[in-house]
Amino acid sequence: MCMEDKAQQLQNLYEKERKRLLTKEEPAGMYDLPVFGEGSLSPFLVLIGEAPGAQEAQTGHPFVGKAGRQLDELLNLAGIAREDVYITNAVKYRPVTITRSGKKNRTPGKAEVSEGLPLLEKEIAILKPTCVVTLGNTPLGALLTLANEKKHTIGELHGQALQINLQGQQTVLFPLYHPASTIYNRELLPTCEEDIRALGRLFAVNKR
Ligand code: URA
Repeated sequence: MCMEDKAQQLQNLYEKERKRLLTKEEPAGMYDLPVFGEGSLSPFLVLIGEAPGAQEAQTGHPFVGKAGRQLDELLNLAGIAREDVYITNAVKYRPVTITRSGKKNRTPGKAEVSEGLPLLEKEIAILKPTCVVTLGNTPLGALLTLANEKKHTIGELHGQALQINLQGQQTVLFPLYHPASTIYNRELLPTCEEDIRALGRLFAVNKR
């Protein structure tokens, strides 16, 4: 499939999803400001985050602001250029809870992740990456479900290149901790760095 076809197919998918999300009612999510994937259309790897935050919803781009800087650091350490990868999220809108001081990010629920699976599966089918990198537990759970694999946590699978089957296509699943996780748990830092270097080695060997 040529690049224009891929771009058109992704755009069609995203427009359909934009309309579907508009039928959902706030306040559980910012459905009117979805954030879709972007990046290389012939990527060695597709990076999958959890869900957009406030800045992503505001700008319409995944991983901007603080989360974007954390992701850029991760990619730098792996020796991977951001323009060589495709970046998307398991859930395409910002999930929120309403507090007295305003909207707060929350982890998407199981049903919200399940609802996002058909679109995620189609994105991967169009892009056909060699490797899918999940950031944290939410996208890892999504990918294991799509591959009909048993549930595992990021603590069990981080930093390993796992062979999975996605719609008959053999793909490498490489689970990483979410780049923000070291903010809450500094002790994870050396492990995260080791995992990221391992991803960098895989990328250096296989880059097309
Ligand atoms: N921004 C995103 O787009 N995804 C995340 O998982 C975190 C921040």
